[in-house]
Amino acid sequence: MHVHVNAATSVDGKLSTRRREQVRISGDEDFARVDRLRAEADAVCVGVGTVLADDPSLVRHDEAHRRAERGTDEPPARVVVDSRGRTPPDAAILDGDPTTYVLVSDALADDRERVLLAAGATVVRAGSEDGSDRVDLAMGLDALEERGVHRLVVEGGGELLFSLFAADLVDRLTVYVGSLVVGGRDAPTLADGEGFVDDFRALSLESVERLDDGVVLSYDVG
Ligand SMILES: NC(=O)c1ccc[n+]([C@@H]2O[C@H](COP(=O)([O-])OP(=O)(O)OC[C@H]3O[C@@H](n4cnc5c(N)ncnc54)[C@H](OP(=O)(O)O)[C@@H]3O)[C@@H](O)[C@H]2O)c1
Repeated sequence: MHVHVNAATSVDGKLSTRRREQVRISGDEDFARVDRLRAEADAVCVGVGTVLADDPSLVRHDEAHRRAERGTDEPPARVVVDSRGRTPPDAAILDGDPTTYVLVSDALADDRERVLLAAGATVVRAGSEDGSDRVDLAMGLDALEERGVHRLVVEGGGELLFSLFAADLVDRLTVYVGSLVVGGRDAPTLADGEGFVDDFRALSLESVERLDDGVVLSYDVG
């Protein structure tokens, strides 16, 4: 599977405020770029922290581009990485036609599974990471691939992105860096988790593009 991470950060690397409230980091030109990215993907993925903080639908900007560029009405599927099934049944990500896969771990309780299924989710079991109850991401991506997801765009947040980098599962990274400072030692960043202390992920910079009042940095992740 090809995994493309796309996110928008402030110039100091923050995804949102210390209150975990969304910030308008980019503008219309970047929204159009994200639309195109989503249009090329089989599925768009976030962690459950993002679902709880932002309640994204992940289809908002996409549909027109999908039709125009691929000659199909079929929107990309949505994916939530959500070990215990904390996604609320009325979450926007469960609305509408596209399939929503909820990747869960062995820690999912039966009652939460029933709630997710009743809300229309497709529950996909993906073991547990060593020493934790969290979703085994490699297993989860393999399970999605078996369901026809070959190109995945992951849009955050920082906990999920760090785990994907740590597990060497990222092929490409694009970051829109907006011209603002958010600050806050507790504000989510592009890669949170435990962080690396050595063996840092080296990236290969492919391009720098000015969009709106910021830049898009595109990296190949070797
Ligand atoms: N600017 C942007 O582009 C952008 C994009 C997205 C989000 N955001 C911001 O990011 C913030 C949310 O980020 P976040 O870091 O709190 O949440 P997140 O990365 O969206 O979700 C993290 C959660 O996913 C679950 N998870 C399951 N398996 C995992 C694994 N193997 N590795 C990591 N996580 C796993 C964990 O919850 P369980 O243990 O319960 O499963 C974990 O707490 C919000 O403030 C949002 O506004 C910004």
